[in-house]
Amino acid sequence: MGYKHLKFPENSLFLVTGGAGFIGSNLCEAILNMGYRVRCLDDLSTGSQANVDMFLDNPNYEFVKGDIKDLDTCMKACQGVDYVLNQAAWGSVPRSLEMPIFYCKNNIEGTLNMLEAARQNGVKKFVYASSSSVYGDEPNLPKREGREGNLLSPYALTKRCDEEWAKLYTMHYGLDTYGMRYFNVFGRRQNPNGAYAAVIPKFIKMLLNDEQPTINGDGRQSRDFTYIENVIEANLKACQASHEAAGQAYNVAYGGREYLIDIYNTLTKALGKNIEPNYGPDRKGDIKHSNADISKGRELLGYDPDYDFAKGLNEAIEWYKENL
Ligand SMILES: NC(=O)c1ccc[n+]([C@@H]2O[C@H](COP(=O)([O-])OP(=O)(O)OC[C@H]3O[C@@H](n4cnc5c(N)ncnc54)[C@H](O)[C@@H]3O)[C@@H](O)[C@H]2O)c1
Repeated sequence: MGYKHLKFPENSLFLVTGGAGFIGSNLCEAILNMGYRVRCLDDLSTGSQANVDMFLDNPNYEFVKGDIKDLDTCMKACQGVDYVLNQAAWGSVPRSLEMPIFYCKNNIEGTLNMLEAARQNGVKKFVYASSSSVYGDEPNLPKREGREGNLLSPYALTKRCDEEWAKLYTMHYGLDTYGMRYFNVFGRRQNPNGAYAAVIPKFIKMLLNDEQPTINGDGRQSRDFTYIENVIEANLKACQASHEAAGQAYNVAYGGREYLIDIYNTLTKALGKNIEPNYGPDRKGDIKHSNADISKGRELLGYDPDYDFAKGLNEAIEWYKENL
């Protein structure tokens, strides 16, 4: 259960790309709290300086402002690194439909640069962010590794390509890679602002401001919303996984299924707001339902998430109430 008991060799150095973002900054924080060293590489394109500033006093933390599209930057950032947690990428299905070429360069070439830099620098483990979007239009639930459908967006394609590149790096160069197929992650520091914000922080912020959120579609879509603590656990356990478990991707979820309209109602109740939502059109490239089978990660990584949706949501609400 959890990750706080995990031990790494003394002075281990973790490189977190995208460490100024939501998931990356939470990984940085967890690793620093465990007493290990962190180098954060981020170009601050969607991340925030505040997610860097909060660690600058810690002597175990180092920030490198740089772009993973640049191989030289990746090579320098990987020097002396034991573990890479590659989170840097642009998210959002709708935005990827507007900017397919940028997504290809940023999310595929960027990760390829990181794989190459990790290989040349003798990194022990390369753990990287993939996404549940790689399941595309596969209708069967729960989503299971090895049972993927047709891709529905440029974003999903970038993540599938990353998985294939990582597999080749394990096969041909012996670099231990582990793909984390995140399912709708939520929690502290997730950005509530902008057109491409995730629903939970966006709804919380709007409700706290007495604004009326819009639900795309009928609200009957479901997702396996996954609390950030479970994501940290999966990443750190992957850093300790066997060579046999490398070259593969794993569902990182809780294994539950929450309907958007139910989440909305839970939030209005928890925040004491009597606000009806707007309903908008379905979003292009979105799937109706998503729910993960997490047995592969349990078996091969020892992933054993201890935050169910309700426990995670309570913590997230408290954090947003104090920090927005
Ligand atoms: N949040 C989710 O629910 C979710 C779901 C599936 C997959 N993911 C993946 O997890 C990872 C982290 O997502 P997040 O939600 O924390 O997003 P985020 O936008 O908060 O963080 C991404 C970080 O990467 C940085 N970045 C982007 N391109 C970069 C580049 N070329 N060079 C250096 N830094 C760059 C950004 O500045 C940002 O700080 C991403 O790879 C994303 O695709 C997230």
